[in-house]
Order: sequence, then C-alpha cells, then structure tokens
Amino acid sequence: MHHEGRISALGGPFIELATAASTNKTAAELLGLSKLRHGAVILAHEQTEGRGQRGRTWTSVPGLDLTLSIVVAPPRLRADAQFVLSKLAALAVYDTVRAHIPGDVRIKWPNDVLVERRKVAGILIQNDLAGDRVAWSIIGIGINVNSSVFDESLAATSLALEAGGHADLQVVLDDLLARFKLYWDDWCGAGNAWEATYSERLWSRGRWADMFLDGEPVLARPMDVDPLGRLVVELEDGRVGAYGLDRLRFAAR
Ligand code: BTN
Repeated sequence: MHHEGRISALGGPFIELATAASTNKTAAELLGLSKLRHGAVILAHEQTEGRGQRGRTWTSVPGLDLTLSIVVAPPRLRADAQFVLSKLAALAVYDTVRAHIPGDVRIKWPNDVLVERRKVAGILIQNDLAGDRVAWSIIGIGINVNSSVFDESLAATSLALEAGGHADLQVVLDDLLARFKLYWDDWCGAGNAWEATYSERLWSRGRWADMFLDGEPVLARPMDVDPLGRLVVELEDGRVGAYGLDRLRFAAR
C-alpha cells in the first residue's frame, strides 16, 4: 500500500493498490479493523475478483479502467433511505461520463450508467447498519475508461470507444471524486435539487420498456425512483406502482 499522507478529494486517506481482489472487499476488511475514516478512497489498478450486482463479476483491464471504492459515514441516514447514496453516486458517475461523451448518457435503475444501450459504468454499494441507521457505506464504482474489447453479451462500452482516443485515468478519477463531493456536500447541507436531476437522467423515463414484474413479462413506463429506491412505473392498464428489485427488473438488454 502506498498511502502515506495522500488525501482524497473527500478528505479521507487515498489508498492506491497495485492489485486487490475487490476494492469493496478491501474497504470492508479495513472498516472491520476500524482502519478507515470518512472520505477514504481505495483504488486498485487491477482487481482479480471484481464484483458486480446480483453476484455477478465485474471485469476491467488493469491499467486501462477505473475500479475504486469510496467510503463514507453518512450523517443520520435511516437504513430505509439508503438508496440516496446510490443516487448521489450515480449522478457523480453520470457527470463524469457525460464530460467525456457527447452522446446520450443515462442512469439505468438501480445504478448502471449507460451510453445509449451500452453499459459504461457500474456501482456496487455495501452498507453497514447500526440499528436503523447506515453507519458506513462502501460505494464501489467501476468505469470502463480505455478498455476496447467487450464480450458482445455484456452490451458494454467505454469512454474511449465512445469518445475516440484515450482518456487520462487520473483526470477521470479526479473528476469523479470532485463531482461526488459536490453531490455529497449538497445532500449533507439538505439540498435537494439533485433529486429532479436524477429523475431526468433515468434511462427509459417516460418510454415503454420490456420488464419483468413478479416474473411475468410486462410493458412498463419508468417515471421515477422513490426514496425507498423502488422504480415507479406506469403499467399498460394505467396503474402506477413502485416496485423494488425483488419484484421488478428490466428485460435483458
Ligand atoms: C455492477 O454493475 O454490477 C456493479 C459493478 C461495480 C464494480 C465496482 S469496481 C470497484 C468495486 N469493487 C468491486 O468488486 N466492485 C465495485
């Protein structure tokens, strides 16, 4: 580890690892040893067991892509409102990606960032609860920056593929952390303008999408994400409901 004295944009230690199984895992281990402060950032140049949502793996190319975890201690966040962290992270990733790509960037619920139909970044959040509060949150972010070869089944893309040319990892990283800090500070200061921004950036918002509700194929029109992190959709019969990932998901891309 080379972290002597390096401080992240969020005011915590910046820990840079040549390799890690998963930066989320490293963060969890260090948190378990009470070795992290709010605002710590753990970055690995290579992840050997990168994790995605729903037990999937997250693949990135050493030296070409960004894999990091931001560790925060949210002030007074109820466990049932924890999806706000996902919104703040997704907005920061959205802005970072958007700064490089002129095209159509969207946030796909619950927290993928897509360019048109292709995934450019993913977020995996692990929260540590203390009673009904979130004590610590590990916000894992993977951005495909300079990778250019993806299995077609992944429907993935990268900043370099979309923008042409090579993106500087350090610039993307600094940008991401600075943007996350803006959203974080705003939220801590009880600002809420980002709520509407998040809604506007939702993938398929206002458009009919193939989804599965309780395992049945349905057409649904995403409208918003509620404070519990459920996607609010209109169904074909006009009903409007809010459903969690346990009941609703997008059909395969
Ligand atoms: C997903 O889209 O399924 C989430 C992907 C999250 C990947 C990041 S990379 C840094 C952090 N460490 C991990 O093992 N996963 C997250």
